[in-house]
Amino acid sequence: MSESVPLTIDGKTIELPVVTGSEDEKALDISKLRDATGYITLDQGYGNTGSCTSAITYIDGDAGILRYRGIPIEQFEEAPNFIEVCWLLIFGNLPSAEEYGDFSERLTKHAMLNESMKYHFQGFPNQAPPMAILSAMINALSCFHPDMIEMDSDDRFITAAARLISKIRTIAAFAHRSSIGRTYNYPNPNLLYVENFMHMLFSEPHAPHETDDIVRLAFNLVLILHADHEQNCSTSTVRLVGSSGANLFASCAAGVCALWGPLHGGANVAVLEMLEQIHKGDLSVEEYMRQAKDKNSGIRLMGFGHRVYKSFDPRAQMLQRVAEKLLAHLNINDPLLEIGRRLEEIALNDSYFVERKLYPNVDFYSGIILRALGIPTNMFTVVFAMGRMPGWIAHWREQNLQGSRIGRPRQIYTGPEMNDYVPRVQRGWVSDSAADIIPGRPRPTFDL
Ligand code: ACO
Repeated sequence: MSESVPLTIDGKTIELPVVTGSEDEKALDISKLRDATGYITLDQGYGNTGSCTSAITYIDGDAGILRYRGIPIEQFEEAPNFIEVCWLLIFGNLPSAEEYGDFSERLTKHAMLNESMKYHFQGFPNQAPPMAILSAMINALSCFHPDMIEMDSDDRFITAAARLISKIRTIAAFAHRSSIGRTYNYPNPNLLYVENFMHMLFSEPHAPHETDDIVRLAFNLVLILHADHEQNCSTSTVRLVGSSGANLFASCAAGVCALWGPLHGGANVAVLEMLEQIHKGDLSVEEYMRQAKDKNSGIRLMGFGHRVYKSFDPRAQMLQRVAEKLLAHLNINDPLLEIGRRLEEIALNDSYFVERKLYPNVDFYSGIILRALGIPTNMFTVVFAMGRMPGWIAHWREQNLQGSRIGRPRQIYTGPEMNDYVPRVQRGWVSDSAADIIPGRPRPTFDL
């Protein structure tokens, strides 16, 4: 028998069905609440609202658990392969050799951009934010691949997914090359995903970029750790946009915009800026921490705190290990890592952070790793978007397969009560025509 919970409102009792997840998470299904009682629920910031059921990622924020399709995130640390995880998230199983080979081939085949897309990069000013370029260019893919807008077969969907995962890397690299006034490096079909990205970013005609296994594995792990995080702001955006029937490219372009904000993916840039500010001597670690606790300062300890994790973010712990290993391997002595360690140590022993359960999140150490890999700071959030792309695609697909309704929250209206329109002349206009609003301006031919 299905479980339900009684709710009594205004003397009337209704039964709310209970929905139970595979990890015994419980939700009250309130979809019929308004019809039955006239009430809606109000939950600003959606901290307590489930927007869907999903079989992709499981998080237990109190226990610091993150699993992709049931697999604990820590199990990807040994031999991280981002493409394998892309397939897992999107299609629900670890790929067979045949599936992996086929998907890799599609990634290689679709790595190039249509030549005329190159001219779009030149149209942006040099200082244009790369996240703006990324979002615009992903959206523009709909113009170059209109056949992908109607996803009427599995094969077409797999190709669309491969196009996005492959082309986001090319777009990201071209955006950077364009911003520094260098020639574009075309994708090299002989290189693996991460090496190819680094080649497109860094190779020069006289000096092809070279990398090694430790760098490749570290970069793969960074992408994997960003690949999905259930209903975060950007993924919920992708689902909401997709729920209107918008195509995969348009929905993912919207996801990029949501990720850009400093409270979400933009935090990895903000962390680096914070560490640099302290390093330059503008503020001491102690003074920064004092301001981070002062609500009026407008400063937060960036890379700390999370809506879901109320204990350690497992991704942050893994990234800290990678950062230490990578910096030692590259023989880099980065003073910012030391400042990060000090901030973390102080925060973990400070009652303000302890009481609010604020711990380092994924962004706290990722910037230090990306900096060690030579990625420019303004590209950090772009790399986050590359990592998050399979998650967005997986959620867009899952929602389409679920056949869900258009996303359309309700609100509680707090504006004026019923009001009357006041004619323009009674509000001091010289005439009833908007054309006369600027005295002395000749009247246009057409009235407005
Ligand atoms: N520094 C100082 N105080 C903080 C911080 C922080 N980083 N984060 C939260 N707090 C405080 C808040 O001021 C609030 O205090 P109060 O209870 O006295 O009013 C309390 O902790 C709860 O904070 P909320 O903002 O209500 O928490 P919410 O769940 O809405 O926000 C968020 C989570 C946005 C991540 C927040 O912790 C934050 O701004 N962190 C810094 C930015 C950051 O690192 N973002 C990346 C998140 S991970 C990701 O998106 C990939």
